[in-house]
Amino acid sequence: MKHFLHIKDIPTKDLKKIIYDAKIRKQKRKKLNTLDPDKDVPLKGQILLQMFQKASSRTRVSFYLAIKQLGGGSLTLRPEELHLGTGGESIADTSKILSTYGNAFMLRTDSDKKLDEFKKHSNIPIINGLSPSSHPTQVLSDIFTIEEIKKKSISKLKLCWIGDANNNMMNSLIEACIKFSVSLNIACPKSYQPNKALISSIKKQKGKIKIFHKKELAVKNSDVVMTDKIISLNDKVNKRKKIKSFKNFKVDTKTMRFAKKDAIFLHCLPRGNEVTEEVFLGRHSKVWQQALNRVHVQKSILLYCFGKLR
Ligand code: CP
Ligand code: NVA
Repeated sequence: MKHFLHIKDIPTKDLKKIIYDAKIRKQKRKKLNTLDPDKDVPLKGQILLQMFQKASSRTRVSFYLAIKQLGGGSLTLRPEELHLGTGGESIADTSKILSTYGNAFMLRTDSDKKLDEFKKHSNIPIINGLSPSSHPTQVLSDIFTIEEIKKKSISKLKLCWIGDANNNMMNSLIEACIKFSVSLNIACPKSYQPNKALISSIKKQKGKIKIFHKKELAVKNSDVVMTDKIISLNDKVNKRKKIKSFKNFKVDTKTMRFAKKDAIFLHCLPRGNEVTEEVFLGRHSKVWQQALNRVHVQKSILLYCFGKLR
């Protein structure tokens, strides 16, 4: 049984297979309606259970569409309506029960420990739909989007991340860049660098991943510029203070001028004031295509978890 919890735990060859499968499936669907299943209906009769302990728009809808297009169905559980949510049942029992009814479980949670506990007692694949430490489905999908737009292998491109370098998106992106041997420049304030474990992994990358504290230096000649909200869903910080520390790390038109002319801008959404309206809606931005690709990549992630990836 294959779980999908963190990019670092998935073999590179499997990550590549997922991206390849998503590309083929997306091409084959061009004439199909949103709810039409793929011709081979590979997950016919299967149900994905999903639960969100934190807000979600994109992950929720894109997983619903993903399993539907594979011929299966989904049920979204509202945590506050479960015995688990009201404190009356343990994660262990809930996990075992969900395993008897469902075929896979996608969880967005406020605690990585909960994710591990669900996994420990589950007989079905667990997918991480965002946790404090990781957002693996988003990042793998972003790699897909970059290769789709740039028509090049990700390992031949220069990525730049501007903003909080110690959050779930950044962790998963660094893990992916290590797996795919990607050149990544990170621009962040000194107090928001990647966590210690990742810094030590970065040091082993022979300079492919670099950390800067001036966005103009980091973004120079980049093919892709990415950022994320300064205040994440799990952030228990002094918000005003944190936002203030990022005042020199906003992605604006001037910043984009340092990147390559044909650079693209990506943002997983939801957004805050880390990017200007002009860039977010401007000619570099591919954020809508990026959001839509979640469906395509998550289909192949599901197939990987179900052991059905070609
Ligand atoms: N990008 C992303 O995960 O969006 P949601 O929080 O809306 O699911
Ligand atoms: N870092 C953000 C990502 C949202 C999709 C958060 O955790 O809120």
